[in-house]
Amino acid sequence: MGYGDDEKSEDYLFKVVLIGDSAVGKSNLLSRYARNEFHLNSKATIGVEFQTQSMEIDNKEIKAQIWDTAGQERFRAVTSAYYRGAVGALVVYDISRRSTFENVSKWLDELRMHSDASVVTMLVGNKCDLHNARDIPTEEGTALAERESLFFIETSALDATNVNKAFQTVVKEIY
Ligand code: GTP
Ligand code: MG
Repeated sequence: MGYGDDEKSEDYLFKVVLIGDSAVGKSNLLSRYARNEFHLNSKATIGVEFQTQSMEIDNKEIKAQIWDTAGQERFRAVTSAYYRGAVGALVVYDISRRSTFENVSKWLDELRMHSDASVVTMLVGNKCDLHNARDIPTEEGTALAERESLFFIETSALDATNVNKAFQTVVKEIY
């Protein structure tokens, strides 16, 4: 169940968090999903931002409150507050930068330390438009997801590939 059941305007409200190294494209995935916007030169996130997005499932209005924070430690706010109440998570890496893939386990540890074991988690290989710079084969992403029991998808915030699908899959699974 989401919190906010007392609100009449919607049937459900789910908190979903975005995590992953700096510059993997978390903020652009969110801006693509919520506003259909992409920014080539976006600044690193400082602190926490969130956007609420509605979708309809089984004739019910579902609102996803998607939280975005800094990948850089020094720009992050209080970690426990960020994860509190989250029922979904997207753990993002950049398919053209191996270090961001290697750090996925670090982000999973943090997620698991601060949230419920039932949190629906999607591993997201972003920047799949960068064909020539690919450093992580799709199969490697699939294998990690299987090992860690995560959903898996490759996305591009730049050309919008699978962005809606990534968020919608998480929300449907929560629901
Ligand atoms: P922090 O806020 O520092 O944690 O970074 P972030 O994960 O929010 O990354 P952000 O969305 O700011 O994107 C970082 C850079 O990657 C920007 O220059 C974006 O334009 C670029 N970028 C994001 N998504 C994509 C993508 O799908 N493809 C390509 N080619 N570039 C992308
Ligand atoms: Mg950001």
